[in-house]
Amino acid sequence: MNIEYLEDIIESKKLTVAVFGLGRIGLPTALMYAKGGYQVNGIDINLELIEDLKLKKTFIDEPGLPEILNDMVDSKKITFSDNFEFAIKNSDVIVICVPTPVSINKVPNYVAIKDVAQKIGKFLSPNKIIINESSVSPTTIETIITPIIEHESHLKVNDDFGICSCPERADPGKIVENWNKVARIVGGSSDEIGKTIVKLYQQISLAQIYQVSTPGTANAVKLTENIFRDVNIALMNEFAVLYERLGIDVKEVIEGSSTKYNFQPHYPGPGVGGPCLPANSYYIIQDAEKVDYIPFLIRVSREINDRMPQNVLELIINALNYVGKSLKNSTITVLGVSYKANVRDIQISPAMKVIEYLQMKEARIQVWDPYYKSEKIGNFTVSDNLSDSFENSDCVVILTDHKEFFNLNFDSLKNQTNGEFVIVDSRNIYDCNKLPKDTIYCGVGRKLQKL
Ligand SMILES: NC(=O)c1ccc[n+]([C@@H]2O[C@H](COP(=O)([O-])OP(=O)(O)OC[C@H]3O[C@@H](n4cnc5c(N)ncnc54)[C@H](O)[C@@H]3O)[C@@H](O)[C@H]2O)c1
Repeated sequence: MNIEYLEDIIESKKLTVAVFGLGRIGLPTALMYAKGGYQVNGIDINLELIEDLKLKKTFIDEPGLPEILNDMVDSKKITFSDNFEFAIKNSDVIVICVPTPVSINKVPNYVAIKDVAQKIGKFLSPNKIIINESSVSPTTIETIITPIIEHESHLKVNDDFGICSCPERADPGKIVENWNKVARIVGGSSDEIGKTIVKLYQQISLAQIYQVSTPGTANAVKLTENIFRDVNIALMNEFAVLYERLGIDVKEVIEGSSTKYNFQPHYPGPGVGGPCLPANSYYIIQDAEKVDYIPFLIRVSREINDRMPQNVLELIINALNYVGKSLKNSTITVLGVSYKANVRDIQISPAMKVIEYLQMKEARIQVWDPYYKSEKIGNFTVSDNLSDSFENSDCVVILTDHKEFFNLNFDSLKNQTNGEFVIVDSRNIYDCNKLPKDTIYCGVGRKLQKL
């Protein structure tokens, strides 16, 4: 490996970068390299996407991204194509940002990353570094991806090429903003290669670039922080379901517990969604199986979080029964389809699961989400406006804590609903003292009551 040469072109900005996979993570990554002064080959298998990007069009709803796309295409710092061979042969650093989803039977699917590894290996020449930003298990780079590249290229890791993991820790909705704020974790196939990639990221980000000893360690860091969150949310979901039955308000409990210096508040809700948290545990579970270990806590936490949409369904049924109605043929106003607040993203959204259950029980749904106004999603269409979704409603269910839902004028909206005004607040965003008198209210872990 000619590390000196690579460090030289990193500093002089003569280095060329290829980014494979131009989705929610890959496109911002490619653009940040371009904005940082490097020439970028953006590569994807989706030809329609490439044509759109050439025309500066993107479906990715990230503040600031369209402007950067526009500037980088105009300045020709980035080009888009599906020509892997050209990109591999003409780039010094190759960044992988392809999907690594978990299949329906909860097993990680590494088809795309293996495909990319094969292509890289086929056209690789010495003195290049491959960076993986896709989410993978701790053993994937060392035991699956590196051997594929070595086999295809007949080159040797560390002698001829380097490989690094720099797992993406982005927060959707804030990817551009966080580029200079959220620390990056880099683990290289050798210490020297890791250090070189730290220098590269330091050229394009003001955030801390933190080096760990191996690619596997870097991937373990990413999974550990996400699973930490998943497990803690599961614990609060468990308390919520229990306290609901014991007549104790979980929101009040969490506020009380937060007065202790070492308590880290996490919050119960309708379940855990998004591209990362619901999937990341299964990468670790698969690795654990390889070494005959059963990670019980991680596994059961997933189960607890996955059953929360069912819990929300039960809250809705109970609230309707309280006012003498049944779910079948009732009209339910659903507020929010995104998996998290203030973003347009329904990947593995618990809201979608609750909607599916409501439809299975033959409830009518009227959905409002300001990020999907008038759009058809699967077998329902989001309302044109908030008011329409309240028309003749028997129950209002909050499934996403979008900022737009915090200060709704319920005094006026409730006049459009059918009979007693019922709210099921699966995000616990409302202060009962501020809701209209006589509202029938319940939350996750908050008892059903007439206010
Ligand atoms: N979206 C997030 O918030 C987020 C956050 C952190 C990490 N990640 C991880 O980043 C990785 C990418 O996720 P994403 O959200 O950007 O996915 P995405 O589905 O938005 O985009 C993936 C892109 O890769 C392309 N692609 C698929 N197979 C390919 C192949 N063989 N060769 C080249 N391109 C290919 C697709 O056409 C698509 O444009 C995943 O491992 C994901 O877990 C995602």
